[in-house]
Amino acid sequence: MKAHIEALLAQTVETLKSEQVIPADATPRIQVDRTRDKSHGDLATNLAMMLAKPAKMNPRQLAETIIAKLPSSDRVSKVEIAGPGFINFFLDSGFLAKQISEIVADPRANVPAADNAQTIVVDYSAPNVAKEMHVGHIRSTIIGDALVRTLEFLGHKVIRANHIGDWGTQFGMLIAHLEELQAEQPEAVNSELSDLEKFYRESKLRYDSDEAFGEKARGYVVKLQSGDEWCREMWQKLVQVTLEQNQKNYDRLNVSLNSSHTMGESLYNPMLAEIVADLKAKGLAVEDDGAVVVFLEEYKNKDGDPMGVIIQKRDGGYLYTTTDIACAKYRHEQLHADRVLYFIDSRQAQHLQQAWTIVRKAGYIPEQMSLEHHAFGMMLGKDGKPFKTRSGGTVKLADLLDEAQQRARDLVRSKNPDLTDEELVEIADAVGIGAVKYADLSKNRTTDYIFDWDNMLAFEGNTAPYLQYAYTRIQSIFRKAGVSADALTGEVNLTEAAEETLANKLVQFNDIIQSVANKGTPHLLCAYLFELAGNFMSFYEACPVNKDDVAAEVKQSRLQLCAATAKTLKLGLDTLGIKTLEKM
Ligand code: ARG
Repeated sequence: MKAHIEALLAQTVETLKSEQVIPADATPRIQVDRTRDKSHGDLATNLAMMLAKPAKMNPRQLAETIIAKLPSSDRVSKVEIAGPGFINFFLDSGFLAKQISEIVADPRANVPAADNAQTIVVDYSAPNVAKEMHVGHIRSTIIGDALVRTLEFLGHKVIRANHIGDWGTQFGMLIAHLEELQAEQPEAVNSELSDLEKFYRESKLRYDSDEAFGEKARGYVVKLQSGDEWCREMWQKLVQVTLEQNQKNYDRLNVSLNSSHTMGESLYNPMLAEIVADLKAKGLAVEDDGAVVVFLEEYKNKDGDPMGVIIQKRDGGYLYTTTDIACAKYRHEQLHADRVLYFIDSRQAQHLQQAWTIVRKAGYIPEQMSLEHHAFGMMLGKDGKPFKTRSGGTVKLADLLDEAQQRARDLVRSKNPDLTDEELVEIADAVGIGAVKYADLSKNRTTDYIFDWDNMLAFEGNTAPYLQYAYTRIQSIFRKAGVSADALTGEVNLTEAAEETLANKLVQFNDIIQSVANKGTPHLLCAYLFELAGNFMSFYEACPVNKDDVAAEVKQSRLQLCAATAKTLKLGLDTLGIKTLEKM
């Protein structure tokens, strides 16, 4: 609807230009917003106030001219001027009602697929090999996956890229340690690898304390990089074990990643030498004290000198930045990406900006290809400090999910003691995992976020359980009515204020999904679904559906509002990667 009104206003601006009411070179940013107070209509614009000066008219007078030139639309019942020159639009309730019927009839709830589908790479999750996933990976994994689902729903070609840390000098000591284990206690290798944290710690301990071991480990780094077959095999085993363990977390989290989406740092390794040589040839990179460095005027160090970004160390090794330069180039050349969305925590902002500045200066990607850092803050405990275990260690993702499921089981059992064990497990898992995901998704990702079990598992407020409950409640309305949501007939009539409010909210779904896709901000969808559920509860209180004295056609109309709400809640939660239940 917003887009529709914006299009009407854009046409009007063109008319005003051709009639020389405003200068032909004016390029106003047409903005249409939802009104807070319904007595001011449904949507409003400040266009007349913005154009008053170039038009040399007072804003209210110009508003009148704009309204006179506005193309007519069956979606708008009334247009009014308010205050200093706002233009308020009242949506036509007949049109709204028709939209509700369309939402009920359309599996996509009236959200059109994008006319120009793009190829979009989403870089997310990205844990490191031979390490267990921990709380630090939750935000990237969950928010990135919500974007993947939203973009796919809109019909884009989405490429999931799990940029795992599978390359670097640490593999020398890991391989050396694995070799010893295989020689000394072959029967224990698998169980040792099942605790990757321990395996990593012990490798490091050996490396730091035993000179000969260290020597061997450094040798393996060189061998691995030069493609030695045995070293590759050992390395492959470590990667494989890590991926298998991560997959369990992804499956539990209902995250759509699998091993085919792995595009780790090692993938770009073969490109690095050539890139360094090319950047030197282009005069962008120079030798500096034995290392290869790109000096960027855009970034100044403390002394006000251009900042040097090292792309190759004195010992010949490459850096994280070199890999990300190659990675962006690859995403253009091999994946033909129109957009790349990086879900990485905000501490890596400068790293990405530097890599991308170099990529653009070198002309590795076309200008219109969009590289976007969708940054997020840290996950904090209730005390406002980084989220840790009681003993101060890093919280493993698997432990956190265990706790979520346990807490949800206790909670669901206390609310509904009659459930069978099977039902209990299904409901509690959807609620527990949904709660963890939603708590993260519903916060503006740019800030740090406080992890609090009690808040996220509450059945009131902006939580997953609240929305899941709203959805099941509508399912029970249909069971009671004895009809199915896709067998409804007759027209939708919006006679009560609560019906109109709900319908107005329902037709906003498309605008919200578009914003999430453009800005990478699922919290907008969460806020919307929460408001939608609230509007639904108010509607259901004011407008009975299953009472005996409700006329048949009123009942059919109201059931369509119920069906449109259920469909929107479900599609919304689906794009967030949160399960809905028929019963809870
Ligand atoms: N593995 C990295 C880390 O743990 C994140 C990688 C993010 N993606 C990228 N293209 N740099 O910090």
